[in-house]
Parts: sequence; structure tokens; C-alpha cells
Amino acid sequence: MRALASFALAIFCSLLTSASAPSSPSSTPPQSSASSKLHIQSQRLQATLEKLSEFGRNPEGGVTRLGYSDTELPAREYVIALMKQAGLEVRADAAGNLFGRRAGSENLPILLFGSHIDSVVKGGNFDGDVGSLGAIEVIRALNEDGVKTRHPLEVVVWMNEEGNHFGLSTMGSGIAAGLLGPEILERKDEQGLTVADWLRRYGQDPAHLTGARIAPGTLAAYLELHIEQGPNLEASKIPIGVVQGIVGLKRWRCVATGLANHAGTTPMDHRKDALAAASRDLLAVRDVVRAEQGRQVGTVGYMKAEPGAVNVIPGRVEFPIELRDLDAAKIDRLWEQIQRKLKPIDKEENVETRCTEFDDIAPARTDSAVQAAIREAAKSLGLPTMDLPSGAVHDAQQMAKLAPFGMIFIPSHDGISHSPKEFTSWPDVANGAEVLYRSLLLVDAQLNRK
Ligand code: GLV
Ligand code: MN
Ligand code: MN
Repeated sequence: MRALASFALAIFCSLLTSASAPSSPSSTPPQSSASSKLHIQSQRLQATLEKLSEFGRNPEGGVTRLGYSDTELPAREYVIALMKQAGLEVRADAAGNLFGRRAGSENLPILLFGSHIDSVVKGGNFDGDVGSLGAIEVIRALNEDGVKTRHPLEVVVWMNEEGNHFGLSTMGSGIAAGLLGPEILERKDEQGLTVADWLRRYGQDPAHLTGARIAPGTLAAYLELHIEQGPNLEASKIPIGVVQGIVGLKRWRCVATGLANHAGTTPMDHRKDALAAASRDLLAVRDVVRAEQGRQVGTVGYMKAEPGAVNVIPGRVEFPIELRDLDAAKIDRLWEQIQRKLKPIDKEENVETRCTEFDDIAPARTDSAVQAAIREAAKSLGLPTMDLPSGAVHDAQQMAKLAPFGMIFIPSHDGISHSPKEFTSWPDVANGAEVLYRSLLLVDAQLNRK
């Protein structure tokens, strides 16, 4: 594929120069050369992102728009309307993932690109939204430029990437990749509704869930534009990140069981305090993860102490442990060390702690040729790039099971994400969408040449 890069670039440059430039003004700084003119319309992209941010808006300014929710449904209708406006042939699969198709000129597998529009609880307005609406903007720009690609293009909006509903990150793409199946249908949410119930609300038949699987050979490649969600690009003043790989993660649900008892009458050395044990467990996780060099991270995201009264010693605490790293073996090694630390804590606190694994996502390396296309696309715009790993999980890593993939990152202000404070400047958003436009054309020109 690399051998074809210069040939592809020649095709690409001729496309860039023959394409008509968008007529509306752009919010990016003035550009100096013909090839640095934007094909995407930044103001139009901004307007659609601002409209999307109204669905599930919180008083703090961000959104709570969980996957499979009454808040997400109207947002999804808005996105479907945008896809149709862009001339895409829209369909939803049995998991509720949305696809919008644009035909190619040759009988080739699909170039898939997109992201998600669900958020975490009290999330921001850029995580997922930029990659989803950026993908639709790319289609509109290609239409306006009269560009026909060799491969069919499909924009995808994945279901429940955050997994804050049902506790399964990258749920829609995991189903599409064949990693999740009917075993999840009876999983219940806090209102007692199952995945199957929600699928029916989304107009899907749960019995057909496996129909959402994407067959091997269907995809030529997968691309995703996303905010970095970390501080590196902004701190280095680099507008485009080329993702080297995405961390894997494992999650365990732990329950520490002690004895609920009177807070005033139970002497300190007679207690079976589940919260004291769980708190020490949390610190043990931190110690183990910090003890090794590297970018590995470990988190206890919450603790639910019961019965939860000011004058009762907590008898039961539920808490998750999450570990992430680019190296799956390291995650397993850290977990063994953590378990070894939890045992003596149980003994000392007179508590029993049991942990059950509930989520496992493999790390994934991006494709070097797709990386090269992203670098080349950024270079053609005069934008410097930085190679970096992704500490957040993404649907892209599920697509890694099916096709070569790449991710384009754009800066996150102060590295903040999963927060209403999440912010990426509009010029950075426009740069990202434009790099997506150009990378797609490069990949389209390079892949599947005889
Ligand atoms: C999703 O954004 C995650 O990394 O948890
Ligand atoms: Mn995301
Ligand atoms: Mn996220």
C-alpha cells in the first residue's frame, strides 16, 4: 500500500485542485496555498454541532444523552435528517447503529467512518459528536465538490459507545464486530428495562441482534475523527494527532461484604466496616498502578455504600475497578498484583470482597498506511501532527477486528473531557473534519489497487 502512496497523492492533489471550493466563509485563519483551502464548511459544521448540543442539555452547558434513552431518540432523528439531507441512504441495524451510504464507482468494500452521539452522565458537546457530524459534513463537501470515490462510503453513528447505560462501553460497535451477542439482551438497567426492551423502543427486533454483525471482508477501512480528551495536543500547540493505538480495558464489579451495625455502640476493633475495606482497596489499586513505569491507569469510579446512613457502619459496598493500557498482558499482570493486595485487607478489616469481571476490550494498534494517509492529509493543509496513543476507548478498536483503521485527534482544551467543560475550538474542529475529508480520499485512492 505504501508503494502506491505517491501515485495516490498525485490523484489526490489533482482532486484537490479541480474541486470547487466551498462558497461560504470559514472560521479558520486565512489560508495561503490552494491546497490548504477547506473543502468542508466549518460554519455549517458548527451550526449542526450546536443544534445537536440542545438534545439532553444540562444546566451546566453539557449534555446527558445516554445511549438507548428517551433523550437520545430525538437527537438520533435529527442526525438521520442530516444524513438524508446529505443524500445518504440511511439504515439502522438490529443494534440501533445508524449507517448512511454513498455509492462508489467500483465494486469494492466499504470505507466506513463516523463516531457516536451518546454521552456519559453530565458529559460534554464534543466527544463523539464531532466525529459523527464531521463525517456527515465530509459527505456534504464531497457532494458539493462533485467527487466520486472508488469505494462506497458509509457514515456510521454507533449506539451506546460510552456504555453508561448497561455498563458496556462500545456496545453498538461491539455487537457489529461480533463480540457481543444475544447474551446481553436480558441485561437490566436501573429502571428494570432490558437491552431487548430498549431495542424494541428503537424499532428493532431483539431476536435479530446478530443480524447487526458485519461480515469479514465488508469493510475496506475504518476512520474516526475524535477529540483527544487529554492535554497533549494543546500543550504542544499541535492541531492534529495521529493515533498509534487505543488502550484496552478490563473492568470488575467488586462487592465488599461486612456487617451493618450501630455506629455509636460498636467498638472500633469489633467492626466489619465494608467501606473502610473498600477505601483501602481503592488505594491499593492506585499503588499497584503507580508502581510501574508507563501510561497504565487504574480507577475506582464510584462506591455505593449500604445502608448509607450517618449512624450505621456500612455493611456492603459495591465498587468497580477499571484498568487500561495499550498492553493487554500488563492489564492482567496488574490485576494479579491488585488481587494479592486485597486479600490481607479483607483479613484485617474482617470483610469479604469478591470481584467479577464485566467488561473486557482488547487494545488495538492503528494501521500504519492509514496513519500515513492522515499525516499526508494534514501536511497538505500545512498542519503539523503528533503521534500519540488513545487513553479513551473508542468504537474504532472494535472495528480493528474487521478492517485496518485509523483515528484523527484534535485538541481538547485543558485536556478536559467527559465533563460539561469539554471544549475544542471551532477552527480545530474544522481542521479535523478537513483532515478527515483528505485522509478518506487518500485511503480511497490507495486501497484495493490491482
Ligand atoms: C469512553 O470514552 C471511555 O474511554 O470510557
Ligand atoms: Mn467518544
Ligand atoms: Mn467518551
